[in-house]
Amino acid sequence: MKFNPFRPNSIAPPDLFHGRDEEIAFIEKSLFQTKNGNPQHFLIEGERGLGKSSLFLKVAEQAVGTTLLINNEKANFIVMNVELDSSQSFVDILKTIAADFKRALSEKEKIKTLAAGVWDFLSK
Ligand SMILES: Nc1ncnc2c1ncn2[C@@H]1O[C@H](COP(=O)(O)OP(=O)(O)O)[C@@H](O)[C@H]1O
Ligand SMILES: [Mg+2]
Repeated sequence: MKFNPFRPNSIAPPDLFHGRDEEIAFIEKSLFQTKNGNPQHFLIEGERGLGKSSLFLKVAEQAVGTTLLINNEKANFIVMNVELDSSQSFVDILKTIAADFKRALSEKEKIKTLAAGVWDFLSK
């Protein structure tokens, strides 16, 4: 019997990330289509410890433009991380999304000023 070295909840950082070429290619295609005005959605599901969070951390780098897409195009998406559950009301969900939207926008140094304006607009 072999000891399993993998620990769920300790996400593989992108530099240690290995494999998942097929999944990454699929997600890149979705990012590219979406960037060009044809939004494409996808859902990743799987058991705990399967590597979902690590995959998303990896592709988030491409989504925000830290690394390029496979065709050398640069994406410039705003990546938000929200955890939703069935106890949340519609307003709770909106608040959760708005809070992370604010955080994601303010991370984008270049558009900080714009972010403040958008937040004011949303708050109203
Ligand atoms: N592509 C990968 N390359 C290397 N290690 C990985 C990879 N994907 C996941 N792991 C490792 O597997 C474990 C579970 O990954 P995680 O992303 O937390 O899974 P999930 O979100 O599906 O529960 C962690 O120890 C993580 O570091
Ligand atoms: Mg996870």
